[in-house]
Amino acid sequence: MHPGHGVYVHIPFCAKKCDYCAFATFTDRHQLTSNYLEALRIDIRRSVATAMPPATSVFIGGGTPTLVPANELMSVLGEIKLATGAEVTVECNPDDVTLAMMRTYRGSGVNRVSVGVQSTVGHVLASLGRTHNPENVQRAVSAVHQAGFKTFNLDIIYGAAGESLDDWRKTVNDVVALDPPHVSAYGLTVEANTALASQPDRHPDDDDQADKYEIVDELFNQSGLLNYEISNWAKPGHECEHNSLYWQQGNYHGFGSAAHAHLDGRRWWNVRTPERYIELVMAGESPESSSETLDAQTRKREALQLLVRTRDGVPFGSISQFDLEEMSELVEQRDNKLVLTRAGRLMANEVALRLIDS
Ligand SMILES: C[S@@+](CC[C@H](N)C(=O)[O-])C[C@H]1O[C@@H](n2cnc3c(N)ncnc32)[C@H](O)[C@@H]1O
Ligand code: SF4
Repeated sequence: MHPGHGVYVHIPFCAKKCDYCAFATFTDRHQLTSNYLEALRIDIRRSVATAMPPATSVFIGGGTPTLVPANELMSVLGEIKLATGAEVTVECNPDDVTLAMMRTYRGSGVNRVSVGVQSTVGHVLASLGRTHNPENVQRAVSAVHQAGFKTFNLDIIYGAAGESLDDWRKTVNDVVALDPPHVSAYGLTVEANTALASQPDRHPDDDDQADKYEIVDELFNQSGLLNYEISNWAKPGHECEHNSLYWQQGNYHGFGSAAHAHLDGRRWWNVRTPERYIELVMAGESPESSSETLDAQTRKREALQLLVRTRDGVPFGSISQFDLEEMSELVEQRDNKLVLTRAGRLMANEVALRLIDS
């Protein structure tokens, strides 16, 4: 298990709902911002008082954290006790990023930002239901550099309707030209209850996504960005600590509506709406909605399912000799570990089904 302690803070506000997004975010509740941030501060203070360990990583995500005033957001961060050298990330929308905002973040202990680029091709952004102008990405990254950030991430998505292989190559090349230390590239996923789910003609095609995965992995490798989890690439030393904590079943607190948390096999999650979260916290009650406790066997299986997706791989005995021979294109042995090949990364769910957890 990861030795650190993570903190996730959810900011549930967005300017517009993207067609593919199933996260618990809202476009009509900005008037709650001030009360919501106050509830976050109170909730965090209570956890600190009940011995929440200093955080080795903090991730302020959403939603759109850059929609709320930077000073106020930083006052929430100020309530979290940080361990020495903690990684502190804020998720940013390129449209909102200004140099002043980045300086405020940097001056308050944020040392990493994650910018939601998604695509640099106008018609692909429109197809994803995104509002930002691709030129704002360049501007945002300049502000990130100017404010003195030593590391940052860019998020991109492949597989939107109407995105050609050349469109995708352009996005990947544009991203490489920005020289990011870390990139997350996600295959567009059709989530239930989204606008995308109700339009089957816009759903991504598996073969097209496989081709796009090969393109992105190839081009990133050539530029020194190495794959360390199916959807994540980094220059050495820039791997995301907070992600690694999740993948190694580490402990983390979650603050805000719909935030999830995990402590030694108990997982819990908060009420989904910001108004309910505010109400409960202000009344001195717990915002927890539900929880589950995993037995040892389930934890062990989940550990393998998470690890197999990373370049650390799983212990050698985790796949039977018979399955190894059957999946020789998908899994390779490295020292005493089994690690997915590039083809295997595209079939990770199938490989995960064959893991032996005892
Ligand atoms: C939930 S968003 C929050 C950050 C910010 N609001 C944004 O959109 O850039 C985090 C990332 O999840 C990814 N994402 C969300 N829904 C997705 C989906 N259905 N398929 C693939 N990626 C998705 C996007 O790349 C996005 O940058
Ligand atoms: S993808 Fe990001 S900006 Fe779009 S609705 Fe989801 S959280 Fe908001």
